[in-house]
Amino acid sequence: MGAVEIEDVRDDLTTILYQPTQIERRVRELAAEIDRDYDGQDLLIVGVLNGAVMAVADLTRAMTIDCEMQWVAFSSYGDGTTSSGVLRILKDLNVDLTGRHVLIVEDIIDTGLTLSYLVQNLRHRGPASLEVLTVFRKPAARQGQVAVKYVGFDIEDEFVVGYGLDYAGRYRNLNGLGVLSPAVYRRS
Ligand code: IMP
Repeated sequence: MGAVEIEDVRDDLTTILYQPTQIERRVRELAAEIDRDYDGQDLLIVGVLNGAVMAVADLTRAMTIDCEMQWVAFSSYGDGTTSSGVLRILKDLNVDLTGRHVLIVEDIIDTGLTLSYLVQNLRHRGPASLEVLTVFRKPAARQGQVAVKYVGFDIEDEFVVGYGLDYAGRYRNLNGLGVLSPAVYRRS
């Protein structure tokens, strides 16, 4: 299957954190947990655009239970590598959450700002349950107030790209995860 290989952008990365096979294996494990936890329930997966596209696509295809998928989008980072702290909803959900089992899927949690905003917002809409899955989690999020039920990988506080995560719109289809070299931000 086509994708940008880590070796193709090796010069833009300081470190390779996870190879595609490691991510695939962990996503399959998470899918199996979700299959068990939500068996027989009406599951609605809410993916956070754009970063969670790869995770939702891989996770749902590794699952054996049926689910609905919906998407929300925020703007918070612009083209930088640190959070601006400003959050705007660019795309909201268009389904009723009353009585539904909702699972938010995030690409990465850094400060947790995006997630706590989303969780508070969705909680008011009357779901039967509301849980969170993130593929990657940075240290700041581990002290966060929002409980995260499923975590793919805990990583260090570094700006990473690949597996849906971008820098200025690039590297999302990189098929592993790497730390972006500061030389790349200096260039732009
Ligand atoms: P938070 O609100 O600070 O938790 O940031 C969450 C969002 O920021 C994620 O959904 C990503 O879109 C983006 N983000 C945070 N850290 C990184 C990173 O290391 N690489 C790429 N995007 C990131």
